[in-house]
Amino acid sequence: SRAWRGLIEEYRDRLPVSTTTPVVTLLEGGTPLLPARRVSEITGCDVHLKIEGLNPTGSFKDRGMTVAISKAVEEGAKAVICASTGNTSASAAAYAVRAGLRCAVLVPRGKIAMGKLAQALVHGAKLLQVEGSFDDCLEMTRKLAENYPIALVNSVNPHRLQGQKTAAFEIVDALGDAPDVHCIPVGNAGNISAYWMGYKEYADDGLATKRPRMLGFQASGAAPLVSGAPVTHPQTIATAIRIGNPASWRLAEAARDESGGGIQAVTDRQIAAAYRLLAQEEGVFVELASAASVAGLLTAHEQGLLTPGERVVCTVTGNGLKDPDWAISGAPSPVTIPIDAYAAASALGLA
Ligand code: F0G
Repeated sequence: SRAWRGLIEEYRDRLPVSTTTPVVTLLEGGTPLLPARRVSEITGCDVHLKIEGLNPTGSFKDRGMTVAISKAVEEGAKAVICASTGNTSASAAAYAVRAGLRCAVLVPRGKIAMGKLAQALVHGAKLLQVEGSFDDCLEMTRKLAENYPIALVNSVNPHRLQGQKTAAFEIVDALGDAPDVHCIPVGNAGNISAYWMGYKEYADDGLATKRPRMLGFQASGAAPLVSGAPVTHPQTIATAIRIGNPASWRLAEAARDESGGGIQAVTDRQIAAAYRLLAQEEGVFVELASAASVAGLLTAHEQGLLTPGERVVCTVTGNGLKDPDWAISGAPSPVTIPIDAYAAASALGLA
């Protein structure tokens, strides 16, 4: 085995790069595909977690960003801009530093997790908090990129989805074939579209014998792809997927229909329960939005949508450390004790 070279080098012949494209990388990709013992037990399926929170900035966004920023540099951009519920801004800010580009990000004020805000700021991005939703931010960002010399790195930039499709390649490379079912959170709907592109590409080229059913999950208060109409005031504790009018709407519907899958809603309560299950029974700390894939799998199991023994992959999209406020708010308060081993023993119930 040899050192991982970042996903552009690993999958160069499947990405829109040439020998002259400057590769901007933080050695993203190559994330673990972890067997999930407890979730497998509950569902009777062979469940694996694709742990995307172990990318360099703590989410899957790095896969798209390495390609989008490399192409922006190749095309002569001096500055990049994105709208974000947090993770895209963190990733754009880091890759912009790497590339020597200026970076501007628009986020919905008060609706992004603290860790993500910290990341954008520490990497020196210009951060604008908009008094509106993510959808408002995206619309503004599109206009700015149209009218000013600044490159858009949201997933409406097709290079982003090209990078993100590599997660599907890694899964097939690790399992030896595609899974039967792939569960994934859906917000702006780029990632489900990217995975489907990746699975199709590998199957078309004979590197997989099948393609999975794509099961996408939105939060019930922000589920336009389930209701079929945009949501004006999306609401959910999973701020990363608090999106009412997804940019990749049509692509996500195509992924759903071509794969024989579905896009369903999970409640905030189900998301929070899956978040705790992952933390307390799998040892995997994800952010709330990421737990939507597992919440959805458990729902699909209860609805009888799974055949026992099927192989399932759930993408867990972001790291739990992104949102320490939520993690702490649900946990028991720590106990304070003096410098005294007996006090420790008695607090631990040992004495
Ligand atoms: N999970 C996390 C942790 C996310 O940050 C996002 C999207 C998604 C899931 C949904 O992926 O949008 O491709 O359907 N976050 C974007 C952002 C919107 O700005 O960071 P999607």
